[in-house]
Amino acid sequence: MSIASHSEQANLAQARDWLAEARSIAVLTGAGISAESGIPTFRGPGGLWNNYRPEDLATPEAFARDPKLSWEWYDWRRQRVAAAHPNPGHAALAELERRVPAFTLITQNVDGLHRAAGSRNVIELHGSLWRLRCVACAREVENREAPLREIPPRCSCGGLLRPGVVWFGEALPADAIQQAARAAARCDLFLVCGTSAVVYPAASLPERALFAGAKVVEINLEPTPFSEAAHLSLRGKSGEILPRLAQAVRHTEPLI
Ligand code: OAD
Repeated sequence: MSIASHSEQANLAQARDWLAEARSIAVLTGAGISAESGIPTFRGPGGLWNNYRPEDLATPEAFARDPKLSWEWYDWRRQRVAAAHPNPGHAALAELERRVPAFTLITQNVDGLHRAAGSRNVIELHGSLWRLRCVACAREVENREAPLREIPPRCSCGGLLRPGVVWFGEALPADAIQQAARAAARCDLFLVCGTSAVVYPAASLPERALFAGAKVVEINLEPTPFSEAAHLSLRGKSGEILPRLAQAVRHTEPLI
């Protein structure tokens, strides 16, 4: 066994011990957790922001200027996600929720794959591709049509429907970020998984957990700006590491 793999084993064993002891766990996920389901990430190789400019598609100004263009991009993303399935990383987090007394899953993802995998207590910080909101009357509707029949889609009041996601320059839903901050402040263990940890306020959550005294473990293919601060960084695919972590609680009876 090489020195690197020995220390990787030791790190994994340490993370599993923390997981087995934890009474309250919070997890922050990003696009990396859905990468193994075939959903592109935003940054890094093949990242969406290498090929598209957010200011052309994902701002209130871009939508006001050209709602059809913005919707064509979201419709393409909805179709990619509709054809995808949750991967073992999503499944492992759903399993943890069933076995750990207090478990909060905070995601920056808008794909809905955590719920599709069976997670229930999910805070969608950046909204959802499957929720549409009227820019005129603010009515929200659930819509799973992919492709959409009409682009841009319209509300029953005649107003334009927009994607129910958070765009650049917009505030996060206040209740979502407050609940997430509370979960980060009261957990014993915080997992940061598949996120580049550069977009705030989501990236402040692991910092908050550290400050409140939780153990913080990062799971990522690459180092991130947060890696140095984390108690442990596990390098690799979340679809491989999370199922191995979840083994730490598999002997316990599911609580739900
Ligand atoms: P990014 O694309 O910025 O980062 C994805 C992270 O996942 C990178 O650090 C990769 O190294 C890592 N990664 C990729 N594949 C992985 C795998 N199989 N296992 C583990 N890690 C893997 O995505 P986010 O951090 O989610 O915001 O981006 C944050 C926000 O920026 C998004 O929610 C979106 C974007 O602009 C909005 O649209 C508001």
